[in-house]
Amino acid sequence: MSQHLSPDYLSKLATDFGTPLYVYHAEKIKEQYEKLTTAFKNSNTVFFYACKALTNINILKYICSIGANVDCSSINEVKLALHAGFPNTRILYTSNGIAFSEIEEAVSLGVIINIDSISNLEKFGAKYGNTYPVGLRLRPNIMAGGNLKISTGHDKSKFGIPVDQINLIADVVNKYDLRISDLHIHTGSEIKDVEVFVKGIEVLFSLIPHFRHLEFIDLGGGFKVPYKEGDVSTDIDLLAEKVQEAFASHAIPGGKPLQVWFEPGKFLVSECGYLVTQVNVIKETNAATFVSVNSGFNHLIRPMFYDSYHHIVNISNPNGAERKYAVVGNICETDTFAWDRTLNEVREGDLLLFYNAGAYGFEMSSNFNSRYKPAEVMVINGEAHLIRKRDQFEDLLRNQIEVL
Ligand code: LLP
Repeated sequence: MSQHLSPDYLSKLATDFGTPLYVYHAEKIKEQYEKLTTAFKNSNTVFFYACKALTNINILKYICSIGANVDCSSINEVKLALHAGFPNTRILYTSNGIAFSEIEEAVSLGVIINIDSISNLEKFGAKYGNTYPVGLRLRPNIMAGGNLKISTGHDKSKFGIPVDQINLIADVVNKYDLRISDLHIHTGSEIKDVEVFVKGIEVLFSLIPHFRHLEFIDLGGGFKVPYKEGDVSTDIDLLAEKVQEAFASHAIPGGKPLQVWFEPGKFLVSECGYLVTQVNVIKETNAATFVSVNSGFNHLIRPMFYDSYHHIVNISNPNGAERKYAVVGNICETDTFAWDRTLNEVREGDLLLFYNAGAYGFEMSSNFNSRYKPAEVMVINGEAHLIRKRDQFEDLLRNQIEVL
């Protein structure tokens, strides 16, 4: 049974904690994680939560407690993961365009590292040789993902070392006798078609003969979740079946079985999250009836940045007559959350609830217009916990040095 927090309960949280408010439902994260582990129970597969989606320390601790590993995209995420209690053997640092000093720091912390440039691989070889195993982030030249901004594996993407440079990679690996432990790809976000992952496996298997120490194949994240009515998610059972089939049909040189890794972000935390906002102003115009909520792209940028759809519900007037509205924010930019959206009649003061706000919601928020970031609440076993205070005025001045 899919778990959702009820609109009545979310209204109560809005009264208790104020708005705008991010709310996360812990058990929903567990439900999503268990969908993955159940589907892959007969295979040697490990899931690393791509924590860039949501790094509140309580979310990290919870995900650690349910048994998932963690994938990080900066050295600070690595440090947060350690702080949350993940042992370094369960932390993966998949880097992209980083300074070599961060790789040195990651080595000193003993975490697993995927390197994404020949330049850093060369520096890594010169410093560590075969003393520290390392993975390679590759660009498989596969187009995938919900839209171009979130497609990362195609042939014009900055991410990973292009697979056509395999000879250059092999030269560095041989020169320093590197122990390459895994080959990684991440082709994009919101990938519905499981064949994309099969294609990725084909590409990686064609490269395996170049490496003697492989233990893992890392297929990245990108599982799709439903955002609107009628949307389907990636079929995880079918994915498990196809991945197992693809592995069974390839002989692995040396016969050693390879573990499969995935790095889901959205799949684990998108649906667990809600953003509760309150209507400030209603403005009737010739173009639309604008509903301005006490939020904007400073809190949830996905609709403006990726044209993403977020389901919105007026939880204060569930039986009101349906009308079309333009839902906008209150910052000095065209921060349209939804245009021509049907909602139950909206009145000033009503609460509008945004769904799928767990992944890349709070995490991509800012203090633009010197507005406060929202508070965050986590509901665990039916109990609501404040896990981040709303900003206060002092936070806007923190770190500023007044020289005048
Ligand atoms: N692994 C790597 C190396 C990644 O770069 C990403 C996401 C993931 C895993 C997790 O992908 P997911 O399972 O969450 O789709 N901010 C955008 C999504 C950008 C994803 C960036 N990388 C959005 O809100 O749609």
